[in-house]
Amino acid sequence: MSDERARELADVEAGAVVCTLCPLAETRTRVVFGVGDPAADLMLVGEAPGYHEDQQGEPFVGAAGKLLDRLLGEIGLRRAEVYIANVLKCRPPNNRNPAPAEIEACSGYLRRQLALIDPRVVLTLGNFATRLLLKRDVGISRLRGQVYPWWNRHLVPTLHPAAVLRGGSGLMEQVRADFALAQQALAEKAAVADPAAEQLGLFE
Ligand code: URA
Repeated sequence: MSDERARELADVEAGAVVCTLCPLAETRTRVVFGVGDPAADLMLVGEAPGYHEDQQGEPFVGAAGKLLDRLLGEIGLRRAEVYIANVLKCRPPNNRNPAPAEIEACSGYLRRQLALIDPRVVLTLGNFATRLLLKRDVGISRLRGQVYPWWNRHLVPTLHPAAVLRGGSGLMEQVRADFALAQQALAEKAAVADPAAEQLGLFE
């Protein structure tokens, strides 16, 4: 990653922190752009900031974030070695689900993050990130458990850590298995080109 690309990412963030593209601009405390290594091989994409993230301006700093740090540790990675972002950069009031118009308004930021960071492996956390990137209207519990070719990269969908915290030990084993898949994908060379990639909308 060249310094120029790092500067470009900083420029995108500078635009995002003053964003008014959707009404969440009126209710947010801070924009939560993303954190980590701009040259990371692994990028994690969550849903949206919660209360603590909105206060601190950093993704996954609450209970779900502690679990995420633990799962990363189990595959030998620290938070500073990956890049973490969300589909939405601003907190929806009362942590409600992201609205389609909010996802649409915010998607340019995620698209530019993915293009600039250019990770080899993308780990999507939960339904919203997985649906947005994989463009499949299928629930996460059916999509998880495998690696998908995605824009010449690997995409690994998994459950959202908050769902694991609510759902018990069986879910933890599933997420652990998915993190292990991401670890394996990181050890591989570039993914096989995806013939359907041209039709996928995120990088248009
Ligand atoms: N949940 C998310 O999806 N993202 C965060 O940053 C925190 C909780």
